[in-house]
Amino acid sequence: MLEKTEYELIDFGAGRRLERFNALILDRPCPSAQGLRQGSPSVWKRADATFVERRKEAGRSRKNEAAALGVRGYWRPLTEHGAVFFSEESTNESSGDREGNAISSKPWALSVGGFFTLELKGSPFGHLGVFPEQAENWRRIYDLCQEGRGRINRPLRILNLFGYTGGSALAALAAGAEVTHVDAARNVVAMAKCNAALSFPEREVAARWIVDDAVKYVKRELKRESRYDGVILDPPTYGHGARGEVWRLSRDLEPLLTNCVNLLNDSFAFIMLTGHTPGFDAPVLERLLRSCMKKRFEANARRCEHLSQPLGIQSTFNGALPCGDLALSVLR
Ligand SMILES: C[S@@+](CC[C@H](N)C(=O)[O-])C[C@H]1O[C@@H](n2cnc3c(N)ncnc32)[C@H](O)[C@@H]1O
Repeated sequence: MLEKTEYELIDFGAGRRLERFNALILDRPCPSAQGLRQGSPSVWKRADATFVERRKEAGRSRKNEAAALGVRGYWRPLTEHGAVFFSEESTNESSGDREGNAISSKPWALSVGGFFTLELKGSPFGHLGVFPEQAENWRRIYDLCQEGRGRINRPLRILNLFGYTGGSALAALAAGAEVTHVDAARNVVAMAKCNAALSFPEREVAARWIVDDAVKYVKRELKRESRYDGVILDPPTYGHGARGEVWRLSRDLEPLLTNCVNLLNDSFAFIMLTGHTPGFDAPVLERLLRSCMKKRFEANARRCEHLSQPLGIQSTFNGALPCGDLALSVLR
């Protein structure tokens, strides 16, 4: 869904990735590129800005916090173009609080295939407000919502958990769905809302923007007997709910998935699970999803298709960068 004019993974390796967002080239940390060789060391000289990790901070931060947010640091401009986005005052140590709520660059916009727009900002943890590795899923979500609408004959009701700045929510909204977007971090939910306003300025979108713990929200929705036609979840390895509730994927994924499956309508459209946790690769995610689906949808088993695959982004100077795994169940 992301066109090459808007985004390009130029190279990766040695724990970093080199990417172009529009005309801005950035060099930033990338845990999944640890231990891999860079395809073209000379091409890295093209970077307009680089993210510098504060190693001392890394040593001090709690292990789970570092795994959830990444290592704290700052963006250093390397060219005049980079300096337009990453200015002196925005790269000093005082920018950003412990949760990474503050932002350390000027914003710029990324058009996602003309379907929606995401506003990007460099954060003090090396994030930008977009995970380009999700772009192929955004296309899937758009297509699944359109197909589902054709079969169900009304706008689909979609629940988007761990929704971050709204990429998946916007793909569903672009296809005419009604979306409930949930994330524990107030600042990213505000960015998601802002991205929706940027993307669909001419219409009021059917979206609810919820700051909450995903586990608690889903339990509350079950109690209220709410039902959805689609559920999307992209849980991290570790995380914190809105009131500090600890999320640990290895412990919490299965009960959450069971509850999500129970929120689906009998004639649901799809449930999409992505993961980025060692030990939870595509076959494991698929097995987990299939077993939760089987308990609830025995009668529909023959109409339900399951798919799983590793996710990756093809780079220009190296192979494909591994970016997590997908498991998907679709009712046809
Ligand atoms: C991997 S990101 C999701 C990326 C997103 N799906 C996308 O493609 O743009 C994980 C998100 O989970 C949120 N999170 C972590 N723990 C949470 C919890 N217990 N409840 C709700 N959200 C949580 C974080 O705030 C973060 O935004």
